[in-house]
Amino acid sequence: MTMNKVEDIVNRLKNGEITATDAAKLYKSSQSKDNIDDSKVIFCNLEWKKINATQKPDRERKSESTVYIGSSEEMYKILKERTNGKVLQATAENYKEVFAKIIEKKIPINDVVISSAFLDEDINTLVIKDLKLVLDTVQWISKLSVSMNKMIYYCYPLSDDKATIHSSCIAAFLQSVHLENQSICYKVIGLDDSEQKLKEHLLTELEQSTSDRNEVMIKESIHYYKQLNEYPPTPLDDNPNKMLKKQGVYVITGGAGKLGGKIAYYIATHYKKSKIILVGRSKICKDSELIGKLNATKSYAEYYSADISDRDSVVGLVSYVKSKYGHIDGVIHFAGLVKDMLYVNKKMIDIVHTLESKVFGINNFDEVLRNEPLDFMILNSSTTSIIGNVGQCDYAYANRYLDEFAANRNRKVAAGKRYGKTIAIDWPLWDKGGMKANESTKEWMKKKIGFEPISDGSGLKIFETSIKFPYSQVGVMYGDVNKIRENIFQKEKK
Ligand SMILES: NC(=O)c1ccc[n+]([C@@H]2O[C@H](COP(=O)([O-])OP(=O)(O)OC[C@H]3O[C@@H](n4cnc5c(N)ncnc54)[C@H](OP(=O)(O)O)[C@@H]3O)[C@@H](O)[C@H]2O)c1
Repeated sequence: MTMNKVEDIVNRLKNGEITATDAAKLYKSSQSKDNIDDSKVIFCNLEWKKINATQKPDRERKSESTVYIGSSEEMYKILKERTNGKVLQATAENYKEVFAKIIEKKIPINDVVISSAFLDEDINTLVIKDLKLVLDTVQWISKLSVSMNKMIYYCYPLSDDKATIHSSCIAAFLQSVHLENQSICYKVIGLDDSEQKLKEHLLTELEQSTSDRNEVMIKESIHYYKQLNEYPPTPLDDNPNKMLKKQGVYVITGGAGKLGGKIAYYIATHYKKSKIILVGRSKICKDSELIGKLNATKSYAEYYSADISDRDSVVGLVSYVKSKYGHIDGVIHFAGLVKDMLYVNKKMIDIVHTLESKVFGINNFDEVLRNEPLDFMILNSSTTSIIGNVGQCDYAYANRYLDEFAANRNRKVAAGKRYGKTIAIDWPLWDKGGMKANESTKEWMKKKIGFEPISDGSGLKIFETSIKFPYSQVGVMYGDVNKIRENIFQKEKK
């Protein structure tokens, strides 16, 4: 369904979602020439939806073995019953030996069930250990002979916030692995520790492999599935300046990069007398003209060299900004790196490199700024987090981390533990970004999926619109919207 802004406003009024006054305001703002061309944009997010899980098994099981990596006795027992005893148990310490034994003895394997094993570490260590286990598993599975698709089930407890964030990112990682190797299928299952009927619910999920149900959460005996959800293109916002404001003090990580530089200029010209601190690892600002260009506006800008994956550097940056300007109003997180490579060739060192700026960087800011009365954190993520991409399993993980982090930080704000709204914008490809796709990939994306790169003008308008939405995740898809709906949204439902 194509929904333009006016139709959207009328529908929301009819459904009682907004008042007549709100509708009039929305209509007025929708007619502004500053608005984006909504015939080319889809705004979306991933949302947990309650769906009936009591379907028949849809997966043929051969009488091959299950590998269980984890230490839950209950889980082991359930798997043993399910497979008539054919479970090979491994731990986070010895799984490589078990993998080697399976290959040596040519034991046929049906699936691998992993229980999130590392819980008592600090979050960055946890992320690395967890991803290493998953990477080793998918690389090992790729060496097995394929008699049928192999399933990986990754189970994690819902009770721990930290585990919830980093574990659900495993789904984004495995989604990209699946795009590269269709014979590796996956399901990521969040389990409520207090679940009484664990066996019943777990077995339901193990026997179903429907592709739009790869991410599951079982809470109080209800199964929720993460689904791609398109939302109305018109955010209702009474005070458009409540995120960005004149005279604000803004730290932009990756601010000397292509997109960071464009947003910095946008802020400098639209929110006068802002103080903008661009941050990058390079000793001097990579874009030699940027600082001059920004300082020719009515705002003030400077460059600060820091590697944000290093906590002490973030402490130094924050204390420098606070001693000079007194406070920080917002952080706009653009720092990022890619190291594209098929998953079979990835090494942990490549993965850690991709995680540094996005995952470790944002964790450092969160910790160091936990008591700062920020207006906002804007995290620049990628649509790869939602739809995956060949060669980018780690980049998908890192961007999903930002999406999950935003939701989690907003929960902390609601609980009075942090300040300011956090929003993750999942960007599609920009035409003139620093991270690029080659011409043949762009052509393929346009022809096959309907994606087109966004121009600077559209990107800036989308930025301004995105930060008005009341959601923590704003996924942006751009191009031929009908084709995108058909290829991404309808495909998800099949
Ligand atoms: N371009 C696109 O089409 C696109 C699409 C979707 C999402 N995004 C996201 O948007 C962001 C910006 O993209 P871009 O195209 O502007 O890329 P870019 O030009 O390469 O800018 C990224 C910047 O991040 C900085 N950086 C990397 N690691 C850092 C670290 N550890 N500490 C501090 N700074 C660090 C780099 O500067 P130094 O080398 O000096 O550190 C670089 O200037 C990225 O996070 C990307 O994932 C971009």
